[in-house]
Amino acid sequence: MGNKYLSIFYHSYLVSGSASHKLAITIIQYSIRFVSGDTMELSARTLDPLTIKTDCLIVPVGEEKKLPAATKAIDKACAGLISRCLENGDTLGKCGSTLLLHEPGGLSAKRLLLVGIGKGAPNTQQFLKICRAAAKAVNEDAIKSAATTLTQIKVSGHDNRWAAEQLSRQFAEASYAFKKSFKKSSEKSSEKTGTKASNKLKRITVICTDRKSQQSSKAGITSGSAIASGTNRARYLGDLPGNTCTPAYLVSQARALGRKHQKISTHVLSEKQMAELGMGALLSVTAGSQQPAYLIAMEYRGAAKSQKPIVLVGKGVTFDSGGISLKPGAKMDEMKYDMCGAASVFGVMEALATLEPSLNVVGLVPTVENLPSGTATKPGDVVTSMSGKTIEVLNTDAEGRLILCDALTYAARYKPDTVIDIATLTGACVVALGSHATGLFSNNDELAQQLLSAGQTCGDRAWQMPLWAEYDEPLKSNFADIPNIGGAGGGSITAACFLSRFTKEYRWAHMDIAGTAWNSAGPKGATGRPVPLLVEYLLRRAESP
Ligand code: BES
Ligand code: MN
Ligand code: ZN
Repeated sequence: MGNKYLSIFYHSYLVSGSASHKLAITIIQYSIRFVSGDTMELSARTLDPLTIKTDCLIVPVGEEKKLPAATKAIDKACAGLISRCLENGDTLGKCGSTLLLHEPGGLSAKRLLLVGIGKGAPNTQQFLKICRAAAKAVNEDAIKSAATTLTQIKVSGHDNRWAAEQLSRQFAEASYAFKKSFKKSSEKSSEKTGTKASNKLKRITVICTDRKSQQSSKAGITSGSAIASGTNRARYLGDLPGNTCTPAYLVSQARALGRKHQKISTHVLSEKQMAELGMGALLSVTAGSQQPAYLIAMEYRGAAKSQKPIVLVGKGVTFDSGGISLKPGAKMDEMKYDMCGAASVFGVMEALATLEPSLNVVGLVPTVENLPSGTATKPGDVVTSMSGKTIEVLNTDAEGRLILCDALTYAARYKPDTVIDIATLTGACVVALGSHATGLFSNNDELAQQLLSAGQTCGDRAWQMPLWAEYDEPLKSNFADIPNIGGAGGGSITAACFLSRFTKEYRWAHMDIAGTAWNSAGPKGATGRPVPLLVEYLLRRAESP
């Protein structure tokens, strides 16, 4: 079980410098371990890019004729090769463009990768694009080790620590690939399926100019690797097929997380226990499935017991067929991703266990399978939620809110400082925002601003949507306290309004990740969002409670 989780190991050792100046060079090295057991090392070093022995030296080039400071000396060492390439090529230098040169004379590196950074200082999104492009180019060739001066460029609004964090994140995330072969579950090593480094990139070195930037790069690499591991973990859980990733599978993952990390303890409620608590809404969703449902609680304790926790609630529908209100067949396979909210909670918990911020965080995962059968809940059925409110289930495909409302009521038991739910809740959110922004709803504007800002910083962006009383109007039923669907239009808001009826007791935000949790075009796959946003928010909260 040891390599079940992506984890980070930290080593720091001293190497004495050259005799001329007795400067000790600290080499700081991290190693990300993928589920397959493959590892990738990340380090920050103060050394000369001209003499570094690496498979590939990655340097920035701009659209302007002037070379960035980080590239000038390198250009000189290879007799102006970079300048000549820039003069000959018309697209080179554009943000995210790449050119791979082999055997550059005058350098110890075997290859030289030029990466375009565009005009002037790149912004957040542009820098992420630059890092992604570099990682992609490296992964397309048989490159085992790479070193880069990319973090030496100025990114507007950010410092060196941030650049190192984003660079490590992008390289570690680019190494994720879903392994397609599955061993039989009876085989002991079945857990070796899943994420692995698809390529041979084993080592990435962030080249620093001095001790100070080396220290800040080190800090960036630490958080970047932890966030990437958490993100890759969420992607892996999302990508798993629905017949592997069942509610019981998520329970086993949560228990393993609790066993592995001292600061995490896992508790699981069974259907029987949920029935005793009166969770009739959650249980109505699982009524048609053979798979038992669970409510998982992963408690991370990084601060004094007296400190109120932040509770994250992740929608864990391991497959959403729609139930009796059956979905159309096209793309129904993608409903295995309906547990991506839960997956993001797992990813965040793992990052917290690695970074150990002084915070208390509870990860709550209501997990069920939504299927039609003779025992399934039918449109028109009335169920009683844990809050005591009765709900008329007008559409069994609006199941996410039914499991979340009971989990949100349960969350109040933790006397939380803040509750944030994350859910692939509505197709309407995809219509409204597409795949770039997560829909954000909150009953507290300060919380909304903090989440928006955290997302802006790491390029995992959210966009705030209204929770006006007018949108709550259609939530009226003749037969129960509330129906589970509203009228036509603004579907992501009605869904949020439904949830808001159960979150009056605390500060709350809802994140609709239906459009951002996975890519359906291009190579299909989970994105791991919003793990970066949430970890950024939590680390900030740990700094200023
Ligand atoms: N899991 C879906 C939401 C979803 C749909 C996410 C498509 C990503 C892509 C959710 O359970 C659902 O089915 N919602 C319904 C609600 C409707 C019945 C009010 C929807 O969006 O169609
Ligand atoms: Mn549904
Ligand atoms: Zn759903």
